[in-house]
Amino acid sequence: MKRLIVVSNRVQPPSEEATGNQGGLALALSAVLRESNGIWFGWSGGETESFTGLINFQKSAGVTTATVDLEPQDILEYYDGFANRTLWPLFHYRVSLAEFEREFVDGYERVNTRFAETLLPLITHDDLVWVHDYHLIPLGQRLRERGVANRMGFFLHIPWPPMGLLVSLPNHQELVEQLFAYDVVGFHTQDWLDNFLDYARTHMDAEVDEDGTVRWQGRTLRALACPIGIDGAAYAQTAQSPTALAMCRQMHESANDRAMIVGVDRLDYSKGLQERFMGYERLLATREDLQEKIFLLQIAPPSRANVQTYQEIRAQLDSHSGRINGEFATVDWVPLRYVNKGYARDVLAGIYRAAKVGLVTPLRDGMNLVAKEFVAAQDPEDPGVLVLSNFAGAAAQMDAAVLVNPYSPEEIADALALALTMPVEERKARWRKLMDGVVNEDVMWWLDRFITALDPETATAGPAG
Ligand code: UDP
Ligand code: G6P
Repeated sequence: MKRLIVVSNRVQPPSEEATGNQGGLALALSAVLRESNGIWFGWSGGETESFTGLINFQKSAGVTTATVDLEPQDILEYYDGFANRTLWPLFHYRVSLAEFEREFVDGYERVNTRFAETLLPLITHDDLVWVHDYHLIPLGQRLRERGVANRMGFFLHIPWPPMGLLVSLPNHQELVEQLFAYDVVGFHTQDWLDNFLDYARTHMDAEVDEDGTVRWQGRTLRALACPIGIDGAAYAQTAQSPTALAMCRQMHESANDRAMIVGVDRLDYSKGLQERFMGYERLLATREDLQEKIFLLQIAPPSRANVQTYQEIRAQLDSHSGRINGEFATVDWVPLRYVNKGYARDVLAGIYRAAKVGLVTPLRDGMNLVAKEFVAAQDPEDPGVLVLSNFAGAAAQMDAAVLVNPYSPEEIADALALALTMPVEERKARWRKLMDGVVNEDVMWWLDRFITALDPETATAGPAG
């Protein structure tokens, strides 16, 4: 089995206490690296006055992490800037929120070059290099320029936008060309893959085979759709751990016989939280019979707080949640519990389990792991209902959920009403289908499919094979 070098912007070793703002990527990689003997390289999250390239090695739960600090200007231009003010909004179909600044591009290129130079001495000739997410698209090319001939893969954890949107990025062609340094490029869904192939074919005149092999100017890459999963079986156990069960009981007590609807999302405009609140408001306004019988718990830990669009959505949600409670609350009923805090995985599992409805309505989402966790946490005898956005990558695998258009308050209200009154037999039938998917197409299945494309030999020898 070849050694795996994983590279991602955020590095979170598995034993670290879950802080609540860990994203899907970090959590999935923890599971993967626990089984692997490799290195996880990336940003420490810390700052240094002037970049030294000094690597901090740590070993935790069998995973070696290697991290570097970045300069304040790097963080501003690369992380806050090109990654989160340009690519994130654009790739989530929000071109009007995207900011196009040359300094951001410069900072992005600079940090990717610094990462390549720092990582280079750690790579031995047989290693597999696997780069993750939109922060690090140019890294492969930077490594190739420095003589790395190893097999290299790239996985995108967010959507890939349609060509018509992508071309609004001034350096779109350069960005896509950089992907051709990789041997394998993975997306969560066929939709994101099709958008990429469409661009390659139409805009670059690349040759695309049916199996996703793309040839362009002497380079060949294999593009594939490969949806990430969770460790479904382990998560189901977590949901029955003492901490989770205690939390589940606590939620039932505090619910006071009212049905709980739960949402759990980073505080991000892509998650459709305002539209979700509007849908819930619509339900309260049109279904007086449900008033005082239900409540929505929305957990939304703040994220990327230095970016203005995130500050704005936070302020909007503060006032929106206040308005809902001001209008509908009674002396002994709070219809919306809005919480800007993150919770540890096992606590969260208990909260999911206590809920009648899981409300997951992003306007766009690469995958959405909360949807899968909600399913895995349910009690098989009395499962809650998943209401899921059509525009989450997860919807492609989870058609037994109640699927909604997240832009429509009426559809959200109708879906909630349906879910809250769904007979137990239907809840069980839908849950069974969803749970089979979550358990079968789990994180190891995802890993195995990607690694098989990258290096079949390692896939057969590895933990997943
Ligand atoms: N999460 C958590 N505590 C919280 C909120 C979220 O541990 O308080 C986790 C959640 O369980 C999930 C991840 O953060 O595993 C979010 O992943 P998802 O794919 O849903 O969204 P992302 O944040 O990556 O956009
Ligand atoms: C998404 C991205 C990840 C990112 C996570 C949390 O899942 O795909 O790359 O790590 O959000 O965002 P943050 O900016 O806090 O790393």
